[in-house]
Amino acid sequence: MKEINIGKIKDRFSQELKGAKSDNEKKKICKKYIEDELSSVFVLLKNISGPKRATIGKDANNLKQFILEKMNDGGEKKREEREEMIDVTLPGESVKRGSIHPLTSLQERCKRIFANCGFSIIDGPELESEWYNFDALNFKQDHPVREMQDTLFIKQKNREKLSSKEKLLMRTHTSPVQVRYMEKRKPPLRIIVPGRVFRNEATDSSHEINFYQIEGLMVGKKISVANFKAVIGYFFRQLFDSNIEIRLRPSFFPFTEPSFEVDVSCTICNKRGCSVCKQTGWIEIVGAGMVHPNVLESAKVDPTKFTGFAFGMGIDRIAMIEHKIDDIRLFYGGDLRFLKQF
Ligand code: PHE
Repeated sequence: MKEINIGKIKDRFSQELKGAKSDNEKKKICKKYIEDELSSVFVLLKNISGPKRATIGKDANNLKQFILEKMNDGGEKKREEREEMIDVTLPGESVKRGSIHPLTSLQERCKRIFANCGFSIIDGPELESEWYNFDALNFKQDHPVREMQDTLFIKQKNREKLSSKEKLLMRTHTSPVQVRYMEKRKPPLRIIVPGRVFRNEATDSSHEINFYQIEGLMVGKKISVANFKAVIGYFFRQLFDSNIEIRLRPSFFPFTEPSFEVDVSCTICNKRGCSVCKQTGWIEIVGAGMVHPNVLESAKVDPTKFTGFAFGMGIDRIAMIEHKIDDIRLFYGGDLRFLKQF
């Protein structure tokens, strides 16, 4: 390797500087020595080790200082010029990077797991008609969720005269996409629908005016509860861990019969009982059931030929459990101190 001799560089520099005819020329020489000669010395230094590196490094820094002083000889104007000069030996400024929102990354993980077992990922509108959100899903006219306090209805002229297909609202769940999809595609089918839903609610640590769900639907010949248990069990084992247990409890939804609630064994305390599972050892995450024949009929699917299961789960709730977050509002507050942790 080429021998580095700082003394020689200094001699050459002084020689050249003497020969300079103007301030401008002097400045150019100084710049050349710092930006070319000394920079390459600093690069070469990386390959040298031990005391030799320390000595050369020190000498090089002294020379740099010496050159800078020469450059500064002419007073104020020269100092300005020096400040303008780019010191390529300084470390660069680091670029600030954003991070992926915890709800987005969880949604991506869920999508990947279902896609791996053959589910298509489908989208639906957030601005929905009363027909798809309620009527087609077998909600009776006087079902309490249709009340003003739960649903965000859209103001429309002469609304009372409109049909339920024309009356608009912000969807309260992702289930309307079940009907929308079955109208277009005949069974066998399996889809998941990730998306945002809206509820007219006072916000607190566990309620938000909007949140995210993933809807699932599988329809075909002889689809049964056993198929559902297999799919949902596989999903949670992939998402959390392979030892997780699931159980079904009876429940009620207008659009499924029978309906159930799916609990998973608490991932935090391993069924010993903790604050997250309220000492029960189980966490309730999914609403599900066998698609109601009336819903199949709404979508023009023959319920005597086909059966299916549907399920819906809240992404926010799963993310809260996973990251031990105790306030859902943190997801929507845009506080960088929160978001940077993911
Ligand atoms: N849509 C229901 C909810 O928002 C969840 C659900 C989906 C239940 C599909 C059964 C079948 O709570």
